[in-house]
Amino acid sequence: MCGIVGYTGTQQATPILLDGLNRLEYRGYDSSGIAIVNDKEIEIMKIKGRLRELERITEGVSPIGTTGIGHTRWATHGGPSNENAHPHYSRDKSFAVVHNGIIENYLEMRDFLSERGFSFRSETDTEIVAMLLEYYYEGDVLDAIIKMRNKIKGSYALGIVHRGESDAIYALRKDSPLVIGLGEGENFIASDIPAALPYTRKFIIPDENEIALITPDNVTIYNRNKEQIQKPVTISDLSVADAEKDGFPHFMLKEIHEQSGAIRKTVHDRITPDGIRLDRIKLDGSKIRKIFVVACGSAYHAGVVGKYFIEKYARLEVETDLASEFRYRDPIVGPDCLTIIISQSGETADSLAALREAKRRGSRVLAIVNVVDSSIAREADDVLYTRAGLEIAVATTKGYTTQVAALCLLGLKLARDRETITQELYDELLYELKQTPETLARFIDDVSNVAQHLAGKYYTASDAYFIGRGYDWAAALEGALKLKEISYIHAEAYAAGELKHGTISLIEKNSLVIGIATEPTLLEKTLSNIKEVRSRGAAVIGITDAPDSIGAECDDLIVLPSGNSAFSSLFTAAALQLFAYYIAAARGGDIDKPRNLAKSVTVE
Ligand code: G6P
Repeated sequence: MCGIVGYTGTQQATPILLDGLNRLEYRGYDSSGIAIVNDKEIEIMKIKGRLRELERITEGVSPIGTTGIGHTRWATHGGPSNENAHPHYSRDKSFAVVHNGIIENYLEMRDFLSERGFSFRSETDTEIVAMLLEYYYEGDVLDAIIKMRNKIKGSYALGIVHRGESDAIYALRKDSPLVIGLGEGENFIASDIPAALPYTRKFIIPDENEIALITPDNVTIYNRNKEQIQKPVTISDLSVADAEKDGFPHFMLKEIHEQSGAIRKTVHDRITPDGIRLDRIKLDGSKIRKIFVVACGSAYHAGVVGKYFIEKYARLEVETDLASEFRYRDPIVGPDCLTIIISQSGETADSLAALREAKRRGSRVLAIVNVVDSSIAREADDVLYTRAGLEIAVATTKGYTTQVAALCLLGLKLARDRETITQELYDELLYELKQTPETLARFIDDVSNVAQHLAGKYYTASDAYFIGRGYDWAAALEGALKLKEISYIHAEAYAAGELKHGTISLIEKNSLVIGIATEPTLLEKTLSNIKEVRSRGAAVIGITDAPDSIGAECDDLIVLPSGNSAFSSLFTAAALQLFAYYIAAARGGDIDKPRNLAKSVTVE
């Protein structure tokens, strides 16, 4: 969702802001803009469309100044347009503001301001922030910000510049991400660390209710009482190379290929000769009555794999929930439950709200998160980092598979603690999990050509149905999501046993069905479902580690290495990611930044 950058230093701000915005492109956006402040005025340039549009209109005429803020907007209030693009001026142009989040009481604030003679240039919720700042300003910007903040409700990361303060940016946040990058004689703000990585690896992460005043030589943080406070400096372990394509045509393909290394980092040093070690995580499996696994999107699909795995081996009841449902449905969660929140970004608004709801009800919260120090990581009681590294493509790949691997680790740990599996089986599964990265690397190399070939055959399909049972159903959910996200082909996943309850009526000659069959005990059942769709004319791609059992009933096959079905989901995921990728490539889509989607959904 919206991306924010800010720069104050000695260099011209525009190129640095444009570079930062380019590095945040993956967050998803439909317009962009910059505001540069100098001694006399604030100059804003903004435009609907891709960043190349902003580059075009600023080329040769970019505003002069060494302090500025920039923004990529993902439309919420008001469609994508030049007027609705950020930054937004206050009425007299003394303030300019960029915002990520939603001001929920903006209609009320509009009325409040209209009654006081303010009128608006855009349909956005953000503009009221700029207007309120002007309304409350009496010579001290910090005071104006505090008064404005007391007036607004909702979520926000805000970057603010003020006319006449040509070396200052003000920033604050609530429920939306924002980091402050520390350079030498220059400082930055950004929604995400990658935007400032070419300039610094030192960051401060402001907390809610804090206001940052950023100048070229100083970053001062004030608490809610306007007292200066000290904040720790975090050194990021990301590098500029992590944010580059490294010879791959797309970040998505690069990240698919990074999966085995990422899973290795997730599991390897946590599997010791004495079993699984999850440092600093307080887990007492014997005291947990029930686990809630709560997440959005692909992270939710990883949770479904986790549910099957934990229930099977740790014999603990697991309920999976979409965060957007959990947070409003009055869940029966309390101190005898463990709530697991899964999130790659650690910033998803619904997942963060679900975390707070679970904590409010007394549940201990364990976060399975990729981005270090993200909001979800910071607010959870315990964190199991997935260590996938920087993921840039909107459609998650290594983010998802590392979540599955982390859940398997956790499930095995619980199973051992609760003595619900034998030492022998535990050792066997751990051994297999530890071997997975290596096998997966070989598999990805081998299956790429197969996926490309199948994509060439099926890329004109208008619908695709993914079916499977158990872990294979979970894998089907993720496979269908991958395909629709980046290829725009309508795709649905069904538990294979549900087909006959309606969906089979959609199957006709040449319908594309992807049948996943890796669970030995369910193979025969899924095979029957494959036969049912095939006899109605469907073209079936089978994904299995038992080609002899189902091969004859499929038009095409993707053969997985044999092994535990839970771990097979990792292989199925990789195969289906590649299938979706090559189909999208054949159809000519914007693979890393699919239309309407955002990498990190920071508003509900
Ligand atoms: C967005 C992304 C998905 C992701 C979901 C949850 O929709 O495009 O790839 O699965 O958010 O994100 P999270 O960061 O919480 O895992």
